[in-house]
Amino acid sequence: MTPEVRRAAEILRAGGLVAFPTETVYGLGADASSAAAVARLYAVKRRPADHPVIVHFASSREAFRWGTEIPQEAKRLAEKFWPGPLTLIVRKSEKAGDFVTGGQPSVGIRVPSHPIAQALLKEFGGGVAAPSANRFGRVSPTSAAHVRADLGGEVDLVLEGGESELGIESTIVDLSGDHAVLLRPGAVSRQDLEKFASIREKGKTPVRHSGGMERHYAPRTPARLVKSFDLDRQISMLGARVAVLAFSRPDERVDFWLRMPRDAARYAQKLYAALRELDGAGCEQILVEAPPEGADWAAVRDRLQKACDAGDMRGNMGA
Ligand code: TXA
Ligand code: MG
Repeated sequence: MTPEVRRAAEILRAGGLVAFPTETVYGLGADASSAAAVARLYAVKRRPADHPVIVHFASSREAFRWGTEIPQEAKRLAEKFWPGPLTLIVRKSEKAGDFVTGGQPSVGIRVPSHPIAQALLKEFGGGVAAPSANRFGRVSPTSAAHVRADLGGEVDLVLEGGESELGIESTIVDLSGDHAVLLRPGAVSRQDLEKFASIREKGKTPVRHSGGMERHYAPRTPARLVKSFDLDRQISMLGARVAVLAFSRPDERVDFWLRMPRDAARYAQKLYAALRELDGAGCEQILVEAPPEGADWAAVRDRLQKACDAGDMRGNMGA
């Protein structure tokens, strides 16, 4: 236990806000049992009050105390994937106040694996409400520097934990209804989940979640997904005013070009830092080369669809 982590736990107990690293992205933490602390969290994030937050715990035993009527499938998934990048939505117990559930009868719970997150949660002892530590609707932070750039002096402490290992937010599975529903794809893939639970595609679930929000992970510069074969034509049309995120080598007509790995997990790890860089390039338009169709790219495709203009996506991704 480092003195920093001890101080962080004290800040949480006093109703303060602590940003901390997880294996997915950095979270902005507040005592999940304090309405005042969570209210401050929402204010700093500029997040609407009816939008629920994920509550983080050191162990699944503690996490499940915030739920009730926990189905066997939830227990199996927890046993297999916790600690790790998976969030389970379950029916809430009386421990989960309306101020963390957005007034819904369910609560999102997660046991992260990052050693600093684990140390903090153990030292604190209770549930820590933690959305990604960015302003609402913006790209999630994957380094302490990103958190400071977004939230600056409005956070009491930022725990340093290097670059996030996975780089995109946790997989979310809703187990509060009759069937397990995949709400947000992530590092735990649908195929992984299906070995332990029968998973339905997100239909018209009435709950609020990030997957249902348009342009949720958006850079400020308009971004557009472009099929590989069309990239060249788009660049000729737009010229030097574009910033490009692509798999191929830089095109000499473009001043700002980031080349991405062809491996989905490595791509995910770099994605948000890349979007921030592209956004900072001062260009008029961001062009993103569309990723492959395969199942291992599902989470990356989901985040890119939200970062890019929905209208363009129909043309490029068939979605
Ligand atoms: O990887 C992650 O999950 C990160 C790290 C910090 O743990 N956290 C994160 O939190 O991404 P946030 O708040 O940015 O996204 C959580 C999503 C939200 O879109 C929220 O609507 C959904 O989870 N969620 C939380 N509780 C829910 C509930 N009871 N029902 C439906 N969706 C819920
Ligand atoms: Mg978020």
